[in-house]
Amino acid sequence: MDLSYVESFSPGDGYLPARASQAGGSVRVSLDGTWKFRYGRGTGDLTAGFEAADFDDAGFDDLAVPSMWQLAGLPGTPRYGAPAYTNVVYPFPVDPPRVPDDNPCGEYRRYFTLPPEWDFGGSAVLRFDGVDSCFAVFVNGAAVGHSKGSRLIREFDITRHVRPGDNVIAVRVHQWSAGSYLEDQDMWWLSGIFRDVTVLNERPGAIRDFFVQADYDPASGAGLLRVDAGGPATVSVPELGLTGAETGTEHRVETVEPWSDEEPRLYAAVLDSGAGREQIAFRVGFRRVEVRDGQIRLNGRPVRFRGVNRHEWHPERGRSLDGATMRADVLLMKEHNVNAVRTSHYPPDPRFLDLCDEYGLLVIDECDLETHGFGLLGWRGNPSGDPRWLPAYLDRIQRTVERDKNHPSVIMWSLGNESGTGANLERMAEWIRGRDRSRLIHYEGEPDAFYTDVFSQMYTGYADLDAIGRRQEPVTADSGHDAHRRALPMMLCEYGHAMGNGPGGLADYAELFDRHPRLHGGFVWEWIDHGIAQVTAAGERYFGYGGDFGEPVHDGNFVIDGLVFPDRTPSPGLLEAKAVFAPVRIEIDPGAGTIAVRNRQHTASTAAYRFGWRVEDGGDLVAEGDLAVAAVPAGGTGHVAFPPALLDATAAEPDDERWLTVTAGLAADTPWAPAGHEIAFAQAQLGQPVHAETLRPPPGLDMGTTAARTGQVTLGCAVLDAGTGELHRLGPYPVHAATLDFWRAPTDNDAPAVARAWRRAGLDRLVRKTLAVQCGQDGLRLRQRIAPAGGDHGFLATFVWTADGMLFIQVTPDGTWPCPLPKIGLRLVLGADVEEVSWFGRGPGEAYRDTHQATRTGRFSRPARSLATSYIRPQENGNRMHARRLSLSGPSGQSLAVTGYPHVDFTVRRWSPELLTAARHTPDLVPDGRTYVHLDAAHHGIGSGSCGPPVQPGHSLAAHPVDLVLGFSA
Ligand code: GAL
Repeated sequence: MDLSYVESFSPGDGYLPARASQAGGSVRVSLDGTWKFRYGRGTGDLTAGFEAADFDDAGFDDLAVPSMWQLAGLPGTPRYGAPAYTNVVYPFPVDPPRVPDDNPCGEYRRYFTLPPEWDFGGSAVLRFDGVDSCFAVFVNGAAVGHSKGSRLIREFDITRHVRPGDNVIAVRVHQWSAGSYLEDQDMWWLSGIFRDVTVLNERPGAIRDFFVQADYDPASGAGLLRVDAGGPATVSVPELGLTGAETGTEHRVETVEPWSDEEPRLYAAVLDSGAGREQIAFRVGFRRVEVRDGQIRLNGRPVRFRGVNRHEWHPERGRSLDGATMRADVLLMKEHNVNAVRTSHYPPDPRFLDLCDEYGLLVIDECDLETHGFGLLGWRGNPSGDPRWLPAYLDRIQRTVERDKNHPSVIMWSLGNESGTGANLERMAEWIRGRDRSRLIHYEGEPDAFYTDVFSQMYTGYADLDAIGRRQEPVTADSGHDAHRRALPMMLCEYGHAMGNGPGGLADYAELFDRHPRLHGGFVWEWIDHGIAQVTAAGERYFGYGGDFGEPVHDGNFVIDGLVFPDRTPSPGLLEAKAVFAPVRIEIDPGAGTIAVRNRQHTASTAAYRFGWRVEDGGDLVAEGDLAVAAVPAGGTGHVAFPPALLDATAAEPDDERWLTVTAGLAADTPWAPAGHEIAFAQAQLGQPVHAETLRPPPGLDMGTTAARTGQVTLGCAVLDAGTGELHRLGPYPVHAATLDFWRAPTDNDAPAVARAWRRAGLDRLVRKTLAVQCGQDGLRLRQRIAPAGGDHGFLATFVWTADGMLFIQVTPDGTWPCPLPKIGLRLVLGADVEEVSWFGRGPGEAYRDTHQATRTGRFSRPARSLATSYIRPQENGNRMHARRLSLSGPSGQSLAVTGYPHVDFTVRRWSPELLTAARHTPDLVPDGRTYVHLDAAHHGIGSGSCGPPVQPGHSLAAHPVDLVLGFSA
């Protein structure tokens, strides 16, 4: 058996030239479904002759095509090998083009019959939309060819091999191949025939391929259409009055509606090869993408990417996506104000691009190329600079461009990801320039961007980005390249690492993007958590990550870094992104009684939105109404005065905080969301300012002396031990502990840098020393020092409880704290279940100081158990910000009210921060019958430090004196 193709530099053999995905065949036979399958563990475990037409495959298993074989049997025990996750490191020795002998192999077979309408005078083409990572094909026993390049279409001419009646196809798929060196993307290593397989019938004279170029001239509004068909054919676009028009020449249509992400206008078109031989239906979107005056422009207007990086992922099917899942992604993106997608780090299933055309998403289509693991070796031997790999590099970019060239949504070709730099990448760029000048070329890995059209970076810090925005980035060695790069527009192909709780600081990025015309926004890393569906022995479902399948090398939960959870439930991070990405900014000036509406879109006016206002006192609706805002053109700002009804509603003095909320929602149904769907909001406080001054215990209280007392004392609804100052009860709830708390279960974004410093400083192991307890007629005073073993830094704290149920806490750092703090607050461990929490403050979702854009001030009520966010790797979550008051109700109607002066952050959980810190997966979080209520004065920001800059200084929580004043009543 000749298996030399597996370890050859060559991209394959015996295949047809790449072409547009829309082309191909009047009759299509899908070979998706159940195939016979045998899993071989390595080179020594293959079935000789399995490809023979008469081979008896009765002993083979059944496997679905498309699918990824390591996921068969999940959630449960994987049946064939197991998924493995690495980010950068290759999971095999770096010895290109060789791969280990333990190279799992899938032997696939299936019978198929060509339908009666099959034209045997024409040709038969076998199409694979995606096979990971290398395969050889046999039809009716004959070797047809072999291929590499997992996420790209490969076609073979099988005309000579097919016959009427039964045919048998056999495919040998190898997990590892030379191609694996080019596919080191940060994702699960999964194998098999994972996208569709089709047999196409092409009549003689059929159109083999076609290229639609539909330019839009923003100056005149004309559309310039040219369709190349590589043979005789005509094109018709009935809506534009074009019928039977010539191909291979440009047609000018005086007025067309251009395509954009905001207004994705498509025209139905038909290509006809004549004499009824073949018709191909497709859609035309007229648009012009260019860099002019140092800016990326779409139809003449500068665009900003409010984008996401999308891997293809499904928690049970891996990278085998069905149409419904792709549509779900697109709808979720549109609903959350996302306007752009980078198809990180390979071309997606072609159907995804149809959806982007249709719903309106700008696409950076990335080639299936990454050699990041060579970076760990100082880029020694990197394929990007090695001529032996050039054919494979060119093959991959040609297949990308040829496949997707007819999609108006694709505005940039990306050469790949993290493949260092080198001549092969330059040659890819050159090839694109010779083939398609209607899109820009992107690649982040060449720092000087000398062969690309845009300057792209990832995870740039705020100050550096600001300098780039001013075109004042550091000078680089080659002055020619430096000048070229400095003139280019800049974008972040990745930023806002959405791992676990976060990303924080998106609003700070948005501010820079809005400030500097050179900056074109960016793409949040990433869209979805690649969690794998798992189930515990007890039947509880959860999502697994790297290391859960016994991988000897892995990168843990670094693959869980999306804005949606593996089941596509939006995370708080997606809601934050939605608020930051909002296409309009609303600013309320309560003093002037005006509302400004800034349109952040490049093309559409605000005519599609309907604005409304709402006044609430303490969360109670006072009045609401529509707000008439004349359509604001793209890039413009409109102003409206408070309407009379709003002025009337605010005439009377409020007896509680009065808030005005202004919203923008869809005026009419769209294909992606119904009328009324909110796209932006803003709030302003109109009355009853939050008390700014710090309350202190009233002077002259009788707090007794430090002489030891015994027994219990009742102060308001608090019952305390008069001798130790310990809290025993708060209203209806027994209290197990009431302690100052500075710890939070580190988020992924806290790790590694700041969480390591927290542990070094002993914040996870503080001990308490009571310095004094006084208890008198009017109250109890407790003084403590809280500090870690071995350190001379700590906190001094004073608790004062007064008879009216107030608790005054003062915390002062003692000594020098070497790091910022996770938080400063009070932990109450209640010996009972809290069922429902109601509050007036920011809500309804979780929020931290740099992730609160999606929350608004109002009154909310939620079941206590729903307040926790189930991050796939458990970590700090669920904080509700700036509650003025909250009430904690138990199952029998009992309730405890807490007031914050002026406000308090709170978290309610059924497990301790220690359990949350130790847990690896969600089933580890076992409720212990208590309720942990955290009442916090402040939190450290969230940031995106898991892969990105540290938390901005303004969001960092330095050790500093803090007052926390709380009122309790039953
Ligand atoms: C980038 C890379 C992504 C992902 C990310 C971290 O360097 O391009 O694929 O690994 O870091 O999650």
